[in-house]
Amino acid sequence: MVQTTVASAAQPYNYEIVRRFTIAALVWGVLGMLAGLYAALELSFPWLNLEIPELTFGRLRPVHTTLVIFGFGGSALFATSYYVVQRTCQARLASDTLASFTFWGWNAAVGLGALSYMLGITQSREYAEFEWPIDILITVVWVAYLYLYVATLRRRSQPHIYVANWFYVGFILATAILHVFNNLAIPVSLTKSYSLFSGVQDAMTQWWYGHNAVGFFLTAAFLGMMYYFVPKQAGRPVYSYRLSIIHFWALIFLYMWAGGHHLHWTALPDWTSTLAATFSVMLLLPSWGGMINGIMTLSGAWEKLRTDPVMLFLITGLSFYGMSTFEGPMMSLKSVNALSHYTDWTIGHVHSGALGWVAMITFGSFYHLVPRLWDTRLHSTRLVYVHFWLATIGIVLYITAMWVAGIGQGLMLRGFDEYGNLAYSFIETVRFLHWPYVVRAIGGAFFLAGVLVMVYNFAMTVAAARREAAALEAKLAAKLAARG
Ligand code: HEM
Ligand code: HEM
Repeated sequence: MVQTTVASAAQPYNYEIVRRFTIAALVWGVLGMLAGLYAALELSFPWLNLEIPELTFGRLRPVHTTLVIFGFGGSALFATSYYVVQRTCQARLASDTLASFTFWGWNAAVGLGALSYMLGITQSREYAEFEWPIDILITVVWVAYLYLYVATLRRRSQPHIYVANWFYVGFILATAILHVFNNLAIPVSLTKSYSLFSGVQDAMTQWWYGHNAVGFFLTAAFLGMMYYFVPKQAGRPVYSYRLSIIHFWALIFLYMWAGGHHLHWTALPDWTSTLAATFSVMLLLPSWGGMINGIMTLSGAWEKLRTDPVMLFLITGLSFYGMSTFEGPMMSLKSVNALSHYTDWTIGHVHSGALGWVAMITFGSFYHLVPRLWDTRLHSTRLVYVHFWLATIGIVLYITAMWVAGIGQGLMLRGFDEYGNLAYSFIETVRFLHWPYVVRAIGGAFFLAGVLVMVYNFAMTVAAARREAAALEAKLAAKLAARG
């Protein structure tokens, strides 16, 4: 606490809010991944549902997705965006009160959301399960966030707005639009509402939202993070600034049209499906342009990959970004989707993006950020390597298990015998999934163990910083006392 007071008195920036959101991201991350691991174990050993409704897979799954996407990912984005906007504009956040409001409001929404799903209160719209009172709270928080971000940009002492801010603003604006339109609903009680949309329009609106939640929340915003922290950690300017601008405009233009690829072979008109697949394939270009831009920022300093484990996290994150944005366009082709949809291939794709890209780029950014926020050095570089390998092994186990499960199940579901009858019953495909599910859970345990190592490393770092600050304060007090 001493350290915090000393820092905030001398600090031209509001780092307190960045520290708070960083801690929130870590807390939600651990809880969310614990829920994910338990859900994975329930799929391997169904008796773990324990006949307790609150713990059943159906309820725990949205708890997992909400805590990791909005709790962990969202708080990491608040933390890094508040840091980046202040540093690149050389201006303090426009309002400390509003920043604090976004902190309490956002965390209340995430916590209430998770609790309500365990109690069975949900809109049943994937990634938008919050019931209407929480949706309203999120809307208010988000408007405050947008105002605060733009007001801070306007206070900048630089003529230029650095590209990371473009990505963050794109994400904040798009999320506001998506959230409001997808959640238009008529409340019938405090805990129940009905969507304004119905039938195929409802599905299309939901997946316009769902896909762009991926595009703007899990991608554009984390690219903002990447464009600040990769050059900073590498100690070099971004490889091509011009490419980063093209990357931004192409990405936000193309993402908006691709949501239909979640609804191939449904009642959605065929042309909509084809349009979505076309835009999805085009998305490969800006995605890989961005990945190459990030990785090439290291050109001339490749040795950092051998000497700096934080760089390993950032570059591995970018590599998984490249991999999942190659896999995604392929899965959006109708013929491939006929095999992959309704199988764990999708879950594998999700986690190569979520663990490989979103989480790895966040870990790398946090390793850069935490020592600076507490004005100290990281407790242990060796533990960063331990974390890196636990995470990487965890991801590889997770996604390869899901490829085996997904492609295997897909092929079994479409297998016919010589008489044209289905070769396998559904329950046979479920039995086949058992071992891949066990391997996925082991992968998840590795990944979570890595996160716990990081949390321990940060706790030791902060404790050391506080001890140093207290010692310094005692020394100053002693000096003042000696002077009389
Ligand atoms: C310890 C690590 C993790 C484990 C063990 C885990 C496990 C799981 C499980 C079992 C499911 C349900 C799969 C199904 O319905 O068949 C799931 C879904 C999901 N998880 Fe995770 N997860 C982890 C980390 C993460 C992280 C860090 C993120 C995001 C940043 C994430 C995002 C998601 C999403 C978006 C889904 C829904 C996928 C879909 O509907 O297609 N997960 N996860
Ligand atoms: C060029 C980029 C990408 C394209 C074209 C793309 C395409 C796709 C496709 C075709 C599906 C399967 C839809 C289905 O059969 O239901 C899918 C699912 C998904 N993708 Fe991607 N993807 C891309 C990048 C990413 C990235 C980087 C992430 C993660 C951070 C991600 C997260 C997801 C999630 C969460 C789902 C599951 C949605 C659900 O059913 O719940 N995608 N994506």
